[in-house]
Amino acid sequence: MTFYSMQHFTAHLHDEAATAALGSALARALAPGLTIYLHGDLGAGKTALTRALLHAAGHAGTVKSPTYTLSEPYRIDLGGRAVGVIHFDLYRMGSPEEFLDAGFREDFNGDNICIVEWPEKADRVLPPPDIDLYLTVAGNGRDVELQASTALGNSCLQSLKFAPNM
Ligand SMILES: Nc1ncnc2c1ncn2[C@@H]1O[C@H](COP(=O)(O)OP(=O)(O)OP(=O)(O)O)[C@@H](O)[C@H]1O
Ligand SMILES: [Mg+2]
Repeated sequence: MTFYSMQHFTAHLHDEAATAALGSALARALAPGLTIYLHGDLGAGKTALTRALLHAAGHAGTVKSPTYTLSEPYRIDLGGRAVGVIHFDLYRMGSPEEFLDAGFREDFNGDNICIVEWPEKADRVLPPPDIDLYLTVAGNGRDVELQASTALGNSCLQSLKFAPNM
């Protein structure tokens, strides 16, 4: 049996450009079926990161915060294959039933890439993440921490090429 520790990564993001650079780097490390939880307070930069990720992945239109719709679907090209990216913001979700009734569970189908803001609002009904990403305010910038918890998340973080201030 092989034991290996899951990939773990931390960085300081001095400004919004650094957050965007991390989003772009993540876009290049995506794989179908990946679920990423985005943790952090209001205004931590979860949507800013997701927006940069989607644009770097080739989405040309706007990326709005799905504050009221709770989820927003996109389609990106991943190595010649169309893959769905579903961006969730569960902050305003009232109950776990709302998540189930909306059919959100079916979005986690092993093919879509699911990016979830405020996963804490749907624990018990939300499928588990491959990567947890934590954003915290630090001075004028943000600290970020990424932790893989599955083989898929691990291989994503292994291929992540990001150095702040690039
Ligand atoms: N590294 C950074 N340093 C300083 N400011 C940043 C950084 N990254 C993002 N920001 C700023 O922080 C704010 C983040 O807003 P954003 O909507 O992305 O937060 P959020 O985490 O999605 O909040 P919510 O929980 O309300 O959805 C934006 O104003 C953005 O310019
Ligand atoms: Mg947001």
